Amino acid sequence: MTIVTPLYSLVNRISAMTMKEASESSPQAHFELLQMIDQLRAAVETPTETVLRLIYQPPQNAALRTVIELGIFAVLVEKRHRETGVSATQLAEHTGAEPDLIIRLMRVMTSLELCTSTSEVYFANEKTVALTQPIGRDGIPCIYDLTVPTLSKLPEYLRSHDYINPQDYTRSPMQWAVGQSQFEWLARNQQQQTLFNSYMASRREGRPMWFNTYPVERLLGDAVPFEDTVFLVDVGGNQGHDLSKFRREYGHLPGKLILQDLPSVVEGVSGQDAGVEVMGYSFLEPQPVKGARVYYFRAIFHDWPDHICQQILRNTVSAMARDYSRILIVDFVLSDTKTPLMQASMDIQMMSIGAGVERSERQWRDLLRSAGLEIAGIWNQNPGMESVIEAVPIMV
Ligand SMILES: C[S@@+](CC[C@H](N)C(=O)[O-])C[C@H]1O[C@@H](n2cnc3c(N)ncnc32)[C@H](O)[C@@H]1O
Repeated sequence: MTIVTPLYSLVNRISAMTMKEASESSPQAHFELLQMIDQLRAAVETPTETVLRLIYQPPQNAALRTVIELGIFAVLVEKRHRETGVSATQLAEHTGAEPDLIIRLMRVMTSLELCTSTSEVYFANEKTVALTQPIGRDGIPCIYDLTVPTLSKLPEYLRSHDYINPQDYTRSPMQWAVGQSQFEWLARNQQQQTLFNSYMASRREGRPMWFNTYPVERLLGDAVPFEDTVFLVDVGGNQGHDLSKFRREYGHLPGKLILQDLPSVVEGVSGQDAGVEVMGYSFLEPQPVKGARVYYFRAIFHDWPDHICQQILRNTVSAMARDYSRILIVDFVLSDTKTPLMQASMDIQMMSIGAGVERSERQWRDLLRSAGLEIAGIWNQNPGMESVIEAVPIMV
């Protein structure tokens, strides 16, 4: 009875939240519903089942990485209108893999609900489609190859380093395990860099952008209304996916939009069609674009430990026009209690591949203050997503 009653009440709350999510389609309701479903699973699972589920997670990722590489999802999607589905034998013909291996891999995919099956015949569902798009097709192999060799050695790294909190990019777990940290590894693996860029551009598809969350009017009032002034610099903006979305919505604003990233990343990117100026630049050097209205950093600071973030921030502050320029940071702001699993996991990933860190509000304040900045506001649509932090120089 003591178990059944809370479970029953949780099921009722899930039912109510399902209605709310369907009627409001708000990110907040969606997030809460997923949280409750996780709670429900934890409540129903026995402790032994929970432990076994955790133990058998790594083979799932390895199987998924292999199925993507074999292009199996692409075949299922291509043939999704065929009522008879695609058999293991047909998949073997398409991929060159042995049918028995395909059956073993596809058992995992079916159990993960990534496709459906009836006795060794497989059918695409909407998750299969996502796995053939850049977020799955490129993101899964790239992030697997980038992180798994280091993650598999992380316990050994931490043990052999007396459980210190990694805080030095040049001595990150990835440096220790693989010989390079993330951005050097990407630069030396052009194919992986291409997958990474594609994943960066696709991973927030359908989710609110910073300008849907942050009140852009704050930037418009006293923006200098000339074409040759700079409105926004996207620092570390990869190949410009965020800037093109911003321009689509705010193309009428006066002032230039500038995309900056490492020369090897922006080489060959033409911003002309998108109305964007492209600049190869390392944010470890002083910012060459002076007096922009906004210096925008999305998913940058979480890659780096505090001492490098301070360097990046100081390099930016030196270019800011007092009382005018602002820094906008889009990253997670971790809550002090009940951090969403994806954010907590991402923190371990960032720690591994470059001694990076996902920060709480207190950590953001401390970091910004150490570079002469203060927070003017934090905006967020739901606790599971990135926040927008506006930072300005501290007035003395
Ligand atoms: C996690 S990605 C984020 C990309 C983009 N801002 C986004 O949110 O999709 C980090 C970006 O920082 C860039 N980066 C790494 N080191 C850099 C440096 N020293 N100077 C400029 N950009 C750098 C990478 O090339 C990559 O595009």
